[in-house]
Amino acid sequence: MNKPKRILIVDDVELNRELLEGILAALGHESEMAEDGIEALAKLKLDIDLVLLDVQMPGMDGYEVVRRIRQNSDVSDIPIIMVTALTSKEDRLRAVEAGANDFITKPIDKIEVRVRTASLLKMKESQDIIRHHQADLEIKIEQRTSDLREAIQGMIEAQRTTHEAHLDTIRRLAIAAEYKDQNTAAHIKRMSFYCAVLARALNLAPGEVELILNASPMHDVGKIGTPDAILIKPDKLDEPEWRVMRQHPTIGGEILRDSPHELLQAGAIIALSHHEKWDGSGYPKGLSGQDIPLYGRICAIADVFDALTSERPYKKSFTNDASLDFMKEGRGKHFDPKLLDLFIENLDEVLAIQEEQRKNIQIETDLDVEELR
Ligand SMILES: [Fe+2]
Ligand SMILES: [Fe+2]
Repeated sequence: MNKPKRILIVDDVELNRELLEGILAALGHESEMAEDGIEALAKLKLDIDLVLLDVQMPGMDGYEVVRRIRQNSDVSDIPIIMVTALTSKEDRLRAVEAGANDFITKPIDKIEVRVRTASLLKMKESQDIIRHHQADLEIKIEQRTSDLREAIQGMIEAQRTTHEAHLDTIRRLAIAAEYKDQNTAAHIKRMSFYCAVLARALNLAPGEVELILNASPMHDVGKIGTPDAILIKPDKLDEPEWRVMRQHPTIGGEILRDSPHELLQAGAIIALSHHEKWDGSGYPKGLSGQDIPLYGRICAIADVFDALTSERPYKKSFTNDASLDFMKEGRGKHFDPKLLDLFIENLDEVLAIQEEQRKNIQIETDLDVEELR
């Protein structure tokens, strides 16, 4: 035992207290004194290792003191030895029931005190070691959990930032391509929202709706590879110029292809297929019907609707009604008929987006009307 043990002696008779104190001092222990139950309960807070408790005291007797100690969770496991002249079985049973650990019989015998206190002090020491160990462990676990939580939080934030940077890069790439084509970020935004409306109306999974929303802005990145003389020519394009113009889906597909990222893979599909037409008269591959990837068919409708309803240098914007009439003529020719129906069914949502976006932004356009025929 490293540090001296502190033992609380509770007895209403001063002589008894002094006697016990002398014995304990000889055994190398420190003593605290209490002359009644009240004082005893108060002094338990003094880091007491063991209580020697007289049974017969005025006021609160020893049994009551034991019961109260056992009810107080802070000190309930302190060993208690009853010091008593009562030796009947009933008295002892009563003390055990109240919560006493052991007995010392009066008159007090030095050897008995040594033997009885030694084993209980040993027990108390083991309890303390376990309790301290547990407390240490709890602190360590708490610290580690908190460290882990912090690390995970940091990771989540880093991933969010990366994801946002990723999306931002893609948007800017798309804007760069459209910018060259005298278009704006506004067109990209609107058409991608329209794509999302269609994807939702098709009951695609939320993750896929998100994917189309973020990938559709890349539909025209291939225009980066189209010469300005053709891209921004104010007059109609002649046939050789159209051939060059029609390369932009292939160029876009080339730019975006073979990425390990789902988003760029979707972007590649959209770039490559957004000018295909339902009846097979589109480009670059002349695919028809369901052979055209769904994302491409969705994007075709969203892109054309926004192109028609937007203004560009040589063309006024069409009204929504005129644009829809024009698109209905392309039902089953240019556009997937069911998708076009779905688009029209969800027109309220489309027009709400258009209205919202128009509030702040000067509208420009992207698609040559000739291209739609
Ligand atoms: Fe295009
Ligand atoms: Fe576009």
